[in-house]
Amino acid sequence: MADHVTIYEMAPRDGLQNESRPIDTAAKIRLVDLLSDCGFSHIEVTSFVSAKWVPQMADAAEVLAGIRRRPGVIYAALTPNLQGLERALAAGVGEVAVFASASEGFSQRNINCSIAESLARFAPVLAAAQAAGVPVRGYVSCVTDCPYDGPIAPEAVAAVAGALRNLGCRQISLGDTLGTARPDTVAAVLEAVLHRVPACDLAGHFHDTAGRALDNIALALTYGLRVFDSAAGGLGGCPYAPGARGNVATEAVVDLLHRKGFGTGIDTTALTRAATFAQSLRRAT
Ligand code: HMG
Ligand code: MG
Repeated sequence: MADHVTIYEMAPRDGLQNESRPIDTAAKIRLVDLLSDCGFSHIEVTSFVSAKWVPQMADAAEVLAGIRRRPGVIYAALTPNLQGLERALAAGVGEVAVFASASEGFSQRNINCSIAESLARFAPVLAAAQAAGVPVRGYVSCVTDCPYDGPIAPEAVAAVAGALRNLGCRQISLGDTLGTARPDTVAAVLEAVLHRVPACDLAGHFHDTAGRALDNIALALTYGLRVFDSAAGGLGGCPYAPGARGNVATEAVVDLLHRKGFGTGIDTTALTRAATFAQSLRRAT
């Protein structure tokens, strides 16, 4: 049987959060519904963050209330603090994610606190999520490069990944937020992180600014990673990472994986439909 790779679909959250013009809630719901037909086990639908910081995600609860929930699909959302978690639980999320950074500069710009403060803030979020029976994923941003602090030491990434795991995150997603990582810098990060977190609990989250995301995924596969984040249509960018363009396109990742002989469970016809719709949202802005 083919080795299976899980794809976390990011278009509704990471894909849309950076769009400057408001996108209709109905269009976001339509995007999630199209993605639900593709065979993903996980779709990151939205963020329960401050609307002052990321206005595009202000309709998080409405989006979750409007989607058609397909059995077997976990609908996830970002929750930076207890306030976000409470909103997310009320909206019926299936999974939440906390997001830290390996760099102090990005942590301050993205969530307005230091790395240490963010980890302290996440502890009650994890405790409350676990009490509610909702699994928690952890992100580490800027794993090779930071738009504010420059190159990041692999050991700094390993320290934050290890801390998130110790807090109880069931999976740690390593984010190339800027999309400037290379296979050699990703390898150095994985060498360090794998001392703290096994490959089976890691995910790769690559933006494609420099066009190297697929090379970085191919490298990560050789280290045993079997979970990757991507966005249909290659949508994306982070409001606090100037210059960061799209997430790697899900359709390109699926194509790479199928060519390498991995199974994904993704229906490529349904994915083409979802990716075309996703791109129409970007063109609309
Ligand atoms: P803060 O200003 O320090 O927070 O922001 P605060 O606790 O002082 O609250 C300020 C105001 O925000 C208050 O409202 C709170 O009620 C409200 P006011 O009294 O002024 O009217 N507030 C909230 N409202 C709704 N939901 C909440 C919430 N929390 C506070 N959860 C905070 C701190 C973390 C809230 C803010 O910095 C924030 O929302 N940041 C989110 C930034 C973000 O979403 N970035 C993009 C996602 S990360 C990413 O894309 C990277 C990733 O893809 C991986 C990679 O690529 O590397 C994951
Ligand atoms: Mg991202």
